[in-house]
Amino acid sequence: MSHPGSKPRAFEQEGRGERDEAGSGTARSAPSSSSRGWLGRRLHRACRRTVGLLLFAACAAGAEPFDPSGIVLTWQRDPTTTMTIDWHSIDGTGFELVEKKSPGHQLPVIEPVVTGVREPVLEYRKAGDPAWVRARGRNQPFPYVEDRAGALHRDGYSHSFPPSGRTVHRVELTALSPDSNYELRFDPAGPVYRFRTLPRTLTREVRFASGGDIGSGTWTETMNRVAASHDPDFVLWGGDLAYCDGAQARLGRWYEFFDSMKKSLVAADRRLIPVLVTTGNHEVAGGYVDAVAKAAKKPYAREDDALRAQVAPYFFSFFATPGQPGYGVVDFGDYLSIVLLDSGHLNPIGGLQAEWLDQTLTARARVPFVFPSYHVPAFPTFRPQTDKQSAGVREHWVPLFEKHRLPVVFENHDHNFKRTHPIKDGMIDPLGVTYLGDGAWGVFVVGVAKDERWFHARTMPINHFYLVKLKGRDATFEAINLRNQVIDRHAAKAR
Ligand SMILES: [Fe+2]
Ligand SMILES: [Fe+2]
Repeated sequence: MSHPGSKPRAFEQEGRGERDEAGSGTARSAPSSSSRGWLGRRLHRACRRTVGLLLFAACAAGAEPFDPSGIVLTWQRDPTTTMTIDWHSIDGTGFELVEKKSPGHQLPVIEPVVTGVREPVLEYRKAGDPAWVRARGRNQPFPYVEDRAGALHRDGYSHSFPPSGRTVHRVELTALSPDSNYELRFDPAGPVYRFRTLPRTLTREVRFASGGDIGSGTWTETMNRVAASHDPDFVLWGGDLAYCDGAQARLGRWYEFFDSMKKSLVAADRRLIPVLVTTGNHEVAGGYVDAVAKAAKKPYAREDDALRAQVAPYFFSFFATPGQPGYGVVDFGDYLSIVLLDSGHLNPIGGLQAEWLDQTLTARARVPFVFPSYHVPAFPTFRPQTDKQSAGVREHWVPLFEKHRLPVVFENHDHNFKRTHPIKDGMIDPLGVTYLGDGAWGVFVVGVAKDERWFHARTMPINHFYLVKLKGRDATFEAINLRNQVIDRHAAKAR
């Protein structure tokens, strides 16, 4: 993973080759102290004393093995030898019961207050290896805590216990073997998950599922399961993820989003499917960089990471990639590059980003498969062609896609299915670029605009994703609907 002006973020990884100190079937901790007064507190203190021995086993938070509330796998660097793993915890390592005033009524109440967050430690091993290896990363809080006082009776945000806010734990594993299966666990007594690395060369078929406008709940979960059933190496999501607009008031949608991911974006044998994401308008308070600049009363500045993190707090906290400034590229061995672009949400489409895109594509001139993904389509199915971002993509990026002879580009945002004709110099041209979209993974479908648009080869108002298969010099693109039916096919050759 690389992007302009960034330094690779290597997280501490320790204990490589270290034997599992906790072993399997670690004795569980004392029962919750929440209803046991002084006895509970004594148990809790005893529990804290034993935490060093129990490693990252659950303690006062309960006797159940720890299982994260959300898990996100992605890559900051080479997907053939690394994996970045985020996992989320609700419960801390312990809690105290303290006297407080109730929200609203202001009456004395006794409530749990968390006393510590979970350690950023996981264990992994290559499939078949007997010994688990510990890896330590770092913790970061969710961008916001639940607005418990304000939300208690209204929107159901106060599910977690203790009400401390959630924590993102992040580890980057490096020096992994290419094209290999690994096992992973977050608690010695908890469930074992799996992940796999990508091959260094295209020695086997590599697959990924591409779409955008994701959402949560059963609709999204159905699509996730359909995608997972095809055993993709990863998923590429082009913006509009949980529809939270960077707002604290919509924090609960992220809970649902990660809950849906954990339940359904899992292949056979609990293999977790990594995701690569771009930003959409619904990742950003204000939606677009012009509105952000106007609200902040200062012009866009490439170096202003703080402002971007402020308006897209979830995007930068929950996804290690692309990171700042909001666009980047991930290179897979010698055969594939995924270019994650920002269609005018945190950065202007033209200027520095377009320059970076040209340089990025030039540097990958010999890579056989290069696929950009972004949110707002150059060739929309619903919105008018005069849309500012669409026009910006056509002006600044489309000439670069054509110059660098990219066969296929992924677009989203309009909540429909589409495949364009191959396009070059504003005309249908067999040597041109085909645009696949238009972002209808798990959200409501908008419907296709009634005016005839010359660039569309096929459109449908239907939920779908594209299953991409790379084999040798061939790439195939199958649009698949919620019933796991192939509704469209496209093919392209490596450059
Ligand atoms: Fe959307
Ligand atoms: Fe959108």
